[in-house]
Amino acid sequence: MRPRDLHRYLNDVGWADSPVPPEGPPAVRNAGTQSAAGTLDVLRESAEGCGLCRLSEKRRSVVFGEGHSDAPLMFVGEAPGAEEDRTGRPFVGQAGKLLDAMIFAMGFDRSGVYIANVVKCRPPGNRDPEEDEMAACAEFLDRQIELIKPRVLVALGKPASHRLTGTAKAMGALRGRWASYRGIPLMPVFHPAYLLRQPKLKREAWADLKLVMERLESASTD
Ligand code: URA
Repeated sequence: MRPRDLHRYLNDVGWADSPVPPEGPPAVRNAGTQSAAGTLDVLRESAEGCGLCRLSEKRRSVVFGEGHSDAPLMFVGEAPGAEEDRTGRPFVGQAGKLLDAMIFAMGFDRSGVYIANVVKCRPPGNRDPEEDEMAACAEFLDRQIELIKPRVLVALGKPASHRLTGTAKAMGALRGRWASYRGIPLMPVFHPAYLLRQPKLKREAWADLKLVMERLESASTD
């Protein structure tokens, strides 16, 4: 099924309520480089021992990130929620189900992309991460991106978009417009949790993801 047909299919079945997509062939460029995967493991271990900010005090898990170490596409969300803190995996709650559907509609599955957050530990009560918490965690995300070297980055929601674009503009002004993070094309997209509250905006999110798909297609024929 082509991605656009997939989207029609997902809309027919109700995008928001889509179950975790079935496993498909991972849309990966090539096998992960051992060195990137190995260095990511070292970085993960260092995050697991991190006590740089107050979020480390109450965490159950460090939610480092997961996916392919050589992924062409990397999603950056905000921070782990309760379910992520419990399982140690990013985007496994309700918003994660919608993110899975978005990834599937783009022709990927989780094993072919990489998913991380701006902060790796859960902020209490699911509040937004604070500036000093994002700064304390910055090195982990910067290194993850540097190692994975995605062809395209997608920032999910405001904290990730602000952190990666270095601006504080409203999401309405950022979404759908290409930005760049250290030379990597970056697309800010509404956060899946926001889309669950504002389902009408899924149309805009899908338009933005189509731009990402086009960019990935053109990058793969370069
Ligand atoms: N789960 C995550 O891992 N990140 C978010 O931003 C939201 C939910």
